[in-house]
Amino acid sequence: MAARLLTAVIDGGQSLSREAPRALGALTDERERAFAQACVYGVLRHYHALQADLARFLQRPLRERDFDVTATLLCALYQLRHMRVPAHAAVSASVEVLRELGKPWACKLANGVLRAAQRAGEPPATADDRNEHPAWLAAATRAAWPAEWGGILAANNRQAPLTLRVNTLRGNRDAALERLAAAGIAARPARHATTAITLDQACTVERLPGFDTGEFSVQDEAAQLAAPLLDPRPGQRVLDACAAPGGKTAHLLEHAGGQLALLAIDHAAERLDDVRANLTRLQLDAELLAADAAATAQWWDGRPFEHILLDAPCSAVGVIRRHPDIRFHRRAADLAALTATQGRLLAALWPLLAAGGSLLYVTCSYLPAENDDVIAAFLATADDAEVVAIEAAWGQPTAQGRQVLPGEDDMDGFYFALLRKRAARAAP
Ligand SMILES: C[S@@+](CC[C@H](N)C(=O)[O-])C[C@H]1O[C@@H](n2cnc3c(N)ncnc32)[C@H](O)[C@@H]1O
Repeated sequence: MAARLLTAVIDGGQSLSREAPRALGALTDERERAFAQACVYGVLRHYHALQADLARFLQRPLRERDFDVTATLLCALYQLRHMRVPAHAAVSASVEVLRELGKPWACKLANGVLRAAQRAGEPPATADDRNEHPAWLAAATRAAWPAEWGGILAANNRQAPLTLRVNTLRGNRDAALERLAAAGIAARPARHATTAITLDQACTVERLPGFDTGEFSVQDEAAQLAAPLLDPRPGQRVLDACAAPGGKTAHLLEHAGGQLALLAIDHAAERLDDVRANLTRLQLDAELLAADAAATAQWWDGRPFEHILLDAPCSAVGVIRRHPDIRFHRRAADLAALTATQGRLLAALWPLLAAGGSLLYVTCSYLPAENDDVIAAFLATADDAEVVAIEAAWGQPTAQGRQVLPGEDDMDGFYFALLRKRAARAAP
């Protein structure tokens, strides 16, 4: 399953977050599922180092159409180098997998290559985190963050913790921590978001006490900083313009006691099903709409919103540690289209904001092109918009907003800019 999934993602260009649940879900044994997942994420994180390691033992590169063979060998090599799997088990299981994949000719090759890799031990030069990123991204990271870029790339390659958001409509964080401790699950309060709990070890969330009944959700700590920044109050009219899968939609509602007139839009209708499922599990209510949020003429009823959350589509380079396939799929050329969409959404949604109201612009990126630059370009065109400085113990101020870099206090990389609409001047 791991070899097939890696082939679909790396060779077939498929998205890991779309393919993984289906592929891994087919494994009914929880331990097998966890093992396959560890292999897939591990190979994606250490892909170039593993390929270089493998090349030492191959007489010639494998053909492109045999990528499933390469994937099987990389999985085995990952087990040999990074997991506590007995070498004989890693080798013999790989040989069996190749037979099952219809590549019996590769069995002898795999046996020879993997035994040689086992005898030779670790490759002499240790892998460089930089090499696990496409050159354009390493260069863009360095240009944007000259002092921090090495740390950012290293953080992109580390495993992220499992973080929960306590549903404050059901109880407080201390009680949730006690409940987890009673179930033998080691966890601690996160540092900045008052709703966040970090687990010492990842596990299947469905098994955590209280998940089914909506007592918490899975959400990175940095993502949990958004709702309190916008700070909607009970009864207010709020727009969540890019809502799926609904993590921040639900948090906005929880933050305001479940009492918002909240419209949650996403243009991907099928992803709205995830928002619906999340809200149902948490027993929360919002109006959901499948639409292009920027095409306001098609859906806006003319009543202004007191708050708008624009969690814009972005390169997602801030969450590479959770989605290691982003490095394989994202191209430098994607940025221009993304920044155009971000600017278009911001400009289209601003007129819907009530005077005195606030709009929070969020991305899970650390590239200024889709953060400060988008806000600066917008401010140059909107004379009724002002930036509200975000004072916080997390992240660092930027020209227009505040940035959390990946790995900072073990959070995902997120950018926030808070804009307020000036109240209309009274007529003279
Ligand atoms: C960063 S994700 C949102 C994550 C979500 N806010 C959460 O916290 O779970 C961005 C979303 O924007 C949606 N999107 C992209 N372009 C859009 C548009 N023009 N109108 C509405 N939604 C859009 C995508 O389908 C995607 O679900």
